[in-house]
Amino acid sequence: MAVSFKDLGLVNTKGLFAKAVKGGYAIPAFNFNNMEQLQAIIQACAETESPVILQVSSGARKYANETLLRYMAQGAVEYAKEITKGKGIPIVLHLDHGDSFELCKSCIEYGFSSVMIDGSHHSYEKNIELTRQVVEYAHKYDVCVEGELGVLAGVEDEVSAEHHTYTQPSEVDDFVKKTGVDSLAISIGTSHGAFKFKPGQDPKIRLDILREIEQMIPGFPIVLHGASSVPQDIVKLVNQYGGKLQDAIGIGEDQLREAARSAVCKINIDSDGRLAMTAAIRKVFAEKPSEFDPRKYLGPARDALKELYKHKIVNVLGSAGHAYDL
Ligand code: G3H
Ligand code: 13P
Ligand code: ZN
Repeated sequence: MAVSFKDLGLVNTKGLFAKAVKGGYAIPAFNFNNMEQLQAIIQACAETESPVILQVSSGARKYANETLLRYMAQGAVEYAKEITKGKGIPIVLHLDHGDSFELCKSCIEYGFSSVMIDGSHHSYEKNIELTRQVVEYAHKYDVCVEGELGVLAGVEDEVSAEHHTYTQPSEVDDFVKKTGVDSLAISIGTSHGAFKFKPGQDPKIRLDILREIEQMIPGFPIVLHGASSVPQDIVKLVNQYGGKLQDAIGIGEDQLREAARSAVCKINIDSDGRLAMTAAIRKVFAEKPSEFDPRKYLGPARDALKELYKHKIVNVLGSAGHAYDL
């Protein structure tokens, strides 16, 4: 049976984005697939009083199960209240990289308060048509929609592109007007995964394009995908404990901080969390090879994740303390 996100205690992104743009910070959009990741996200955000976007890819939805996810999100709302002594924090449940109208519709029926329709691999016209269709449906239920213009290099779910196609500033105003989207994901040199740049490449994103886009649609909420920084101390730990990650390079945190001060109001982070969990689990396995209680390695992984998220919230996104902005 269909459920509204409002019945689960969730919020959509509209008010949150308006406040984030005005306040010069970005809201964390952390991907999750399981309970430990969700616990770490909620603990980190509730303790720092940050709003949060719980982000679920189509792969994550298949992995976790859609019914379970609905109750996990509802549980997250209650858990945040427990940590904050009843106040709670604003929590959004968001579909990451939706690739069809049907998937977006199904997520809305299962209590999502925000969906992304990623039509960036289609022609400009087809992207507009598909995005518009999702917006018309979603807005009937007060659900917000994120669209994307431009293509990130790397793998986005099953689709992969070898080179970036940067978002063209000249197209954004037309796209936003014709589709009615609530936020826009752009391509300015970030990419998904842990290998964003080749060794020797200048690991810079195109903040100049971001500024041009902002001039075209002043104050409109912008989203950055592929924003993991791939912390080298964590990569080192993974390798120290038997991993094999060579030349893993991410986006410098200073560049993300600068972007978050602008109209970028949602920053997507998945890979850094995967790395932090992997390092912690590998450490336990390497140091205690006889350990076989999952709580003994998932627990430390959860703690490492929480620390990573707190660091992002406080030092990179600047969203700490903004849960109760008016
Ligand atoms: O953008 C991709 C996200 O990191 C989700 O990845 O499709 O492997 O769940 P996934
Ligand atoms: P990272 O792979 O850089 O963490 O990006 C995640 C993302 O954009 C999810 O949509
Ligand atoms: Zn993404």
